[in-house]
Amino acid sequence: MSFDPHPPIHQPPLEVAPETFLIRSAQPAFGAPLSVNLNSLVIRGAEPVIVDTGTVANRDHWLDDVFSLVDATDVRWIVISHDDDDHTGNLAEAMERCPDATLVVNWAATERMGASFGLPPGRLRWLDHGESLDVGDRVLRALRPPVYDSPTTRGIFDPTTRVYWASDAFATPMPGAPVDAVDELPAPMWAEGFALFHHHALAPWLALVDETRYAAEVANLRALRAEVIVAAHTPVIRGGSVAQAIDHLAALPSTVPPPHPDQQALTAILANTVPA
Ligand SMILES: [Fe+2]
Ligand SMILES: [Fe+2]
Repeated sequence: MSFDPHPPIHQPPLEVAPETFLIRSAQPAFGAPLSVNLNSLVIRGAEPVIVDTGTVANRDHWLDDVFSLVDATDVRWIVISHDDDDHTGNLAEAMERCPDATLVVNWAATERMGASFGLPPGRLRWLDHGESLDVGDRVLRALRPPVYDSPTTRGIFDPTTRVYWASDAFATPMPGAPVDAVDELPAPMWAEGFALFHHHALAPWLALVDETRYAAEVANLRALRAEVIVAAHTPVIRGGSVAQAIDHLAALPSTVPPPHPDQQALTAILANTVPA
């Protein structure tokens, strides 16, 4: 038996900084008039970089979008921010199409992905939190965001554009019709959706953290002075929204999230959507 995923909503690539493109799709939410981004990133520098590889459901658009921006034979680095399948959905295809690309992961990702992928040892580069990656015309920094759902997670900061790729952090739902930037979300929707996603879909341990140590992690992120924050599951965050987004992140340990849908909600959804 197989189930087809909902077809993703295609959003064309968005240039978020010079030669830096967000590769986008949006997944319709289950039983709600909402959608969720499933993004990745292309940095078209001297040694082109792909950061995360989208989903299987969006494979055709993902491959078209990425390789309309960069020639596959030019790609030198494929960075996987962590080992979840919405970040590795087209990794094997990308590695095959980009013969000169090195796969940037870390020890834990190599171990955790080994059962699903035949990772080529000679094409691996391990990059840990706090370390740097020289990609020719810039030196990327790996910085783990304060919130994540896998121990392999590393964000990527490009000091030349001040763009920070935050992996899963800053996740938030959008209306059913996707938007480009968080500025287009009604403020209460952003705040509530942000709390819902982080507490219930990303990091249920947020309620357990030492708030002082968590605040130090958030302060490190704020100190980056990122001008644009992009991530897999949020519209673009830039301008005044950067500080607001980091404030939302800082508040999470003491934020009470809205309840997540339960079996009663599922029953109601099925009653409305599945013919008897
Ligand atoms: Fe994840
Ligand atoms: Fe994700």
